Amino acid sequence: MSTWALELKELHHQFAGTQVLQGVNLQVCQGERLALIGPNGAGKSTLFNLISGELQPTRGHIELNGQRIEGWSTARIHRAGLARSFQVSRLFGGLTVTDNLASCLLWQVQPGYRCCGRSQQRQDVQALVSHWMQRLDLVGRGAMRAEQLSYAEQRRLELGLALAGGAQVVLLDEPTAGMSRQEARQAVELIREITVGRTLVMVEHDMDVVFDLADRVAVLDQGRILACATPVEIRANEEVQQAYLGLQPPRLNPGGAHA
Ligand SMILES: Nc1ncnc2c1ncn2[C@@H]1O[C@H](COP(=O)(O)OP(=O)(O)OP(=O)(O)O)[C@@H](O)[C@H]1O
Ligand SMILES: [Mg+2]
Repeated sequence: MSTWALELKELHHQFAGTQVLQGVNLQVCQGERLALIGPNGAGKSTLFNLISGELQPTRGHIELNGQRIEGWSTARIHRAGLARSFQVSRLFGGLTVTDNLASCLLWQVQPGYRCCGRSQQRQDVQALVSHWMQRLDLVGRGAMRAEQLSYAEQRRLELGLALAGGAQVVLLDEPTAGMSRQEARQAVELIREITVGRTLVMVEHDMDVVFDLADRVAVLDQGRILACATPVEIRANEEVQQAYLGLQPPRLNPGGAHA
């Protein structure tokens, strides 16, 4: 049997006595694009924080490619092949766009940043930075500080920082939030393109994006996975409609008229 890229078993988390996650079970296939949806405050970002090692679960297991990772540091989990982006951008705002990208590419070329003095490796990093500047449609922005970029450009750079390091499992937390329709469409195309061959788990509120991009959709509600199925099945699931529609009526009608 092939190994899951990511497997969560009976995952619990509480903040100061408040139970946020209450036994999350989820299996993500290798190469799959899975959207994680659920009402505000359902615990989606908390789940990402547990998987990426920012938080430790109160109880339960997390497996990355069949290996238990709960209790590991964020750096060790990253080295094991998992990267993430954040709901609120965490760029190095005072550094240039080039240096932001170089900071994660240096690690890819030589973990521990030990290559900074070696010219061949510096050239390798420069070539990779140029490659990513093109992929992220940021050509001409290299010398700007990240904080000077437009909002959509900052989100693209954030995507680049999550993906340029070569991680095979990628978590994206609301990558299109706050974007215009057009910007979100461009971001979706970018995500589709640069996650080919990787495993993607993406928190997203925009149902157009979810139904367009995801192979499967997992619904987190009241601390548990309420359903995990194909977009078509999720759209037809009455329990999901009730749990989610009650909070966000217009958003489960991708491309159509609002209810
Ligand atoms: N560091 C923290 N300390 C205490 N409570 C927290 C902390 N982080 C999150 N929470 C609480 O945990 C619950 C889940 O929050 P979380 O941010 O994971 O939800 P979410 O599903 O990502 O919501 P949204 O869709 O609004 O981003 C919320 O009630 C939130 O207030
Ligand atoms: Mg969140």
